[in-house]
Amino acid sequence: MALLDGKVAIVTGTGPNIGGEIARALAAKGAKVVCVDRDLDRAEAAAIQVREEGGEALGVGCDITDPDEAKRAVQEAVATYGRVDILVNNAAITHRETILDSPFETWQRVIAVILNGSFLMSQNAANQMVSQGEGGAVVNIASTSGHMGTKAGIAYATAKAGILNFTRSMALQLAEHNIRVNSVTPTQTGIPVAGGKSRWEGPPPDNIPRGRWGKPSDQAQAVLFLVSSNADFITGTDLKVDGGVTAGLAGG
Ligand SMILES: NC(=O)c1ccc[n+]([C@@H]2O[C@H](COP(=O)([O-])OP(=O)(O)OC[C@H]3O[C@@H](n4cnc5c(N)ncnc54)[C@H](O)[C@@H]3O)[C@@H](O)[C@H]2O)c1
Repeated sequence: MALLDGKVAIVTGTGPNIGGEIARALAAKGAKVVCVDRDLDRAEAAAIQVREEGGEALGVGCDITDPDEAKRAVQEAVATYGRVDILVNNAAITHRETILDSPFETWQRVIAVILNGSFLMSQNAANQMVSQGEGGAVVNIASTSGHMGTKAGIAYATAKAGILNFTRSMALQLAEHNIRVNSVTPTQTGIPVAGGKSRWEGPPPDNIPRGRWGKPSDQAQAVLFLVSSNADFITGTDLKVDGGVTAGLAGG
């Protein structure tokens, strides 16, 4: 029997980088996966790839910042597969502007996707898990940018720091329902969050002690561990899959 047999997982932001790889990794261990993306093509492409590899998956187009759409995505998961056991809040957008030049609209949109979207998906999925009465697991995808100040991307760094405490608070609030909540912290992995040509090519910078760029599978395998019964005693924590980038920070 595979590790996640009988489980239903929702993964948001299933583009070809980290989210798509998480969907594939969970499906490879037996989970039925609902691939949610604002871009329907990306949602469906991820689901098709899972099915081509022998798994079960559904693609759902959904802007997670819209309360009605977030609710519908969870309802579609239940309508198709009957339950929800796992949620991975992975969707995000980023930007480069600083406090001096970031348009307010950019600040609002980045905060909305990362924080509002994670809130809405979590609220709907967690209520579904509570109603099932069999617990569950949530993993929020953070970033090294959430652990330290950054020279660019004021909204992104602020929102990702928020994800860390969102995770801890959810873990405390859902523990009595046997729902575990953790986060994973990636560093520069695969193609950049903004899409397009990869920034993460060529020799890695000095700030990655492991001496290479992150691979989507690095993140996906960490998520797989955290949602599995192997992590049964782990909740409210952050797993840094960052090649050592944050090891030099106080509190590492
Ligand atoms: N790639 C990196 O180097 C890196 C580093 C640190 C953290 N992260 C984090 O890892 C996660 C995945 O990163 P990635 O590089 O795979 O991102 P990506 O940009 O490749 O994919 C993100 C996906 O989210 C989707 N999305 C955006 N807004 C949405 C919305 N409102 N509703 C639904 N879907 C939406 C996009 O369409 C896209 O498919 C993100 O949370 C990101 O912040 C990535």
